[in-house]
Amino acid sequence: MQKLIITGGKRLGGEITLQGAKNSVLPLLAAAILCKGRVTLGNCPEITDRYAAMRILNHIGCRTSGSGDITETDTTSVGCCEITDELMREMRSSVIFMGALLGRCGKCRLSFPGGCDLGPRPIDMHITALCRMGADITERHGEIICTAPGGLHGTKLTLPFPSVGATENIILAAVSADGETVIHNAAREPEITDLAGFLNVNGADIAGAGSDTVRINGRKLSPTGEIYRVMPDRIACATYLSYAAIVPHGEILIKKCDHTHLDAVIPVFEQMGCTVRVFGSNIYLRSPDRLESPDTVRTMVYPGFPTDAQAVIMSDTCVAAGTTVFIENIFENRYRHTGGLGRMGADIRTEGRVAVINGRERLYGAKVSAPDLRGGAALVGAALAAEGVSEIDNVEYIDRGYEHIEQILSSLGADIRREVVLS
Ligand code: EPZ
Repeated sequence: MQKLIITGGKRLGGEITLQGAKNSVLPLLAAAILCKGRVTLGNCPEITDRYAAMRILNHIGCRTSGSGDITETDTTSVGCCEITDELMREMRSSVIFMGALLGRCGKCRLSFPGGCDLGPRPIDMHITALCRMGADITERHGEIICTAPGGLHGTKLTLPFPSVGATENIILAAVSADGETVIHNAAREPEITDLAGFLNVNGADIAGAGSDTVRINGRKLSPTGEIYRVMPDRIACATYLSYAAIVPHGEILIKKCDHTHLDAVIPVFEQMGCTVRVFGSNIYLRSPDRLESPDTVRTMVYPGFPTDAQAVIMSDTCVAAGTTVFIENIFENRYRHTGGLGRMGADIRTEGRVAVINGRERLYGAKVSAPDLRGGAALVGAALAAEGVSEIDNVEYIDRGYEHIEQILSSLGADIRREVVLS
């Protein structure tokens, strides 16, 4: 196990280049299976979820390698359509391989997904939609067994909720299905647009990605072999903005981002008293002497406030003047970081999907554990502001979604180091 040791209270200032998006590189790696050829992705983040997805590709018979931000995979031959329980447990998003394997091989076998525990992570919408497209799916002893004996065919369907993963799985299954598929109430997240962009460059016919109605005409893909650059990580961007915001007079310039992905997040920083400037693909933030509490933060589907940024913004509000209310509308159990924040002196009360934070003048260093990916990132933010030394273990959660976090924070002036804990 590894832990981060952070001595808080340091002023943060400097510039960073934003990583590629975790929640885009994963579906793109799954989509590569449909290309039946050589695929090269650029701007891939150096995070453990990416390497887990690469291991899945190699397990099914692809030849995949990565160097820095470049991932290359040859998906000409796919001999195995089963994803082992061990591989599935490494990350929740491995369910995204279901649509791609069904589209490529007409069958697949995988276990129920693992990943962060944000409450029940059902995949009923995925299964219902794929069955509407001609798949037979049975669940037995924690395994999902999918076949498409007659192949997949297009259909018209309306998602009961604009699920990101379900929208991605349907697109992946529909790309080579027979006929047209129309998804109503589709997720509108930028990662859906990135997935459609990649597939269309490789010969797919997808329209409407990024809107609530997506149309996919099934056809044979023809991979170009051109390098496709993964979109910037909007959640990592919000995270690093929250780190500069939580310390007095913090300053950060984040390069290679897309500020349009943060239209619901930037106003919250401004409500907290930060100065935010966007120009080109850069975002600049400067924090005040002390943050003010923002208006109520309600997490919503895109383009609303992203649930993945809720935890890191909550850390900021723990030291803001005033009271902040959060309403978590997407996941049932996404306040697991409040325990660690409380150990650092935060005044937080939660009741179901509501959290009320009474800002304090200061937080204090403590020993805490990362409960999940974004909760861990939130504890890092609190530790940067806290008086004294904090130890955050279960850093493996954080490494799933943030590349080189201690190097980046050190370059901004933080006193942070990683220790390996020999258990
Ligand atoms: C994706 O998860 C992201 N993960 C999540 O980011 C993100 O929080 C989420 O979308 C919402 O934006 C990846 O892209 C790898 P959903 P996903 O399907 O696809 C319920 C992070 O920190 N639901 O939109 O799993 C579900 O339980 C991660 O980077 C069903 O009930 O999210 C949840 O309450 C965390 N049945 C809600 O919908 C289904 O069949 C949203 O889930 C599917 C989902």
